[in-house]
Amino acid sequence: MNIAVIGTGYVGLPAGAGFASHGHNVTCVDIDEEKVEKINSGECPIYEEGLPELLQEVVSKGKLEATTDTITAVKNADIVLLAVGTPMDKEGNINLDYIEKASKDIAEGMKEREEHQTIVIKSTVVPTTTEEKIIPILEQSGKKPGKDFGVCMNPEFLREGTALKDFLEPDRIVIGELDEKSGDNLEKIYSEFDAPIMRTGLKEAELIKYASNSLLATKISFINEIGNLCKELGIDVYDVADGVGMDHRVKRDFLDSGAGFGGSCFPKDVRALIKFMEDKGEEPRILQDTINVNVDQKTKLVEQLQNHYSDLSGKKIAVLGLAFKPGTDDIRQSPAIDIIAELKELGAEFKAYDPKAIENMKQKHPEIEYTSSYQEALKEADAGLILTDWEEFNEISREELKKMNKALILEGRRMSYELDGENRQGVTWP
Ligand code: UDX
Repeated sequence: MNIAVIGTGYVGLPAGAGFASHGHNVTCVDIDEEKVEKINSGECPIYEEGLPELLQEVVSKGKLEATTDTITAVKNADIVLLAVGTPMDKEGNINLDYIEKASKDIAEGMKEREEHQTIVIKSTVVPTTTEEKIIPILEQSGKKPGKDFGVCMNPEFLREGTALKDFLEPDRIVIGELDEKSGDNLEKIYSEFDAPIMRTGLKEAELIKYASNSLLATKISFINEIGNLCKELGIDVYDVADGVGMDHRVKRDFLDSGAGFGGSCFPKDVRALIKFMEDKGEEPRILQDTINVNVDQKTKLVEQLQNHYSDLSGKKIAVLGLAFKPGTDDIRQSPAIDIIAELKELGAEFKAYDPKAIENMKQKHPEIEYTSSYQEALKEADAGLILTDWEEFNEISREELKKMNKALILEGRRMSYELDGENRQGVTWP
């Protein structure tokens, strides 16, 4: 099949390269000319495990090309995937500017095409957006939905850091469809994927995405709330999570307590669902507290640090980990941003290290000191904070602790190194 993918971010590019690796002819479209040039030279514009290699392969085989020309790409496509960003505006609504612009360009391309085609929404959009906002724009092509073109909503559940693997090996494929023909067409390009396919309506598919992310985020806030109690009791929340997670109705996944969730999805999606529910006159009580618990959890470590230093002014703090999770250079909504800001308020000084995310954090906190290794950050520090569970931090040894002013590590993420209890403490474990 000929597939056009509009948007080459964390969803569009793994999807494009993934479908090309299954033998489809893929045209990736982006307004960013530099990105288009990079892709056409086989270079990967985002940092994602395995993606650079696959992209190089499918580009060199002529199965994937990139362009800024949406109209031609859409004209030649049997299936068009809309995968542009839906950032959040100040009021907590999702911003549809990119969606509307891309949908208008798609409508222009549809005018040039005779044969039926199917437009597939992969961007995260609140329920009713496809029917009430996107289809009316596509109809500006003069074409009739359900007759001349089909529409599907096909949410993506991939995680940063494992985007390609998650795309190629999903737990499920959700196809929300305008009509059966649309769903059948989309199901064809997933025929080689080894995953269950769920066919449903457009609104259902839109909400499945938000409900999935919101439940995962709620699971994390739940275990953090339990974790704070464990801290009071002097017991290890990970033992509690293991026991709870052995129940097949609960599962152990996403019960890792720590400094709170970050990233470009959970905070944004939960807030957007809260706003959407309020606009519908519903009371999002659970979701609101999922956010409230998370906001407070992010700075729990600062409170614990103040148990050691009532006055933090002039104290040298080693911040280990800036990315919102390991395996990515992304710092969006990372707990490290809030923790550094709070400690700055309290007059602390910093030496911060992260294997991938320093350049991004320099945008937020340009004035703090960054080091090229965790060892350097720990040297002569009054305390170390672990905020991202990068594998390399498991190598921290007693030797490094001896070079600190005070051998004290506070963990916002669970580590598995061999350090004595008096030198390290967990945010929700002893
Ligand atoms: C998430 C969803 O997992 C994915 O399905 C969706 O498509 C996009 O949003 P991502 O944002 O990449 O993916 O990160 P994820 O791995 O889910 O982690 C999110 C945050 O939760 C991170 O800050 C992580 O540290 C934190 N987390 C995760 C916990 O605190 N505890 C856990 O048990 C799991």
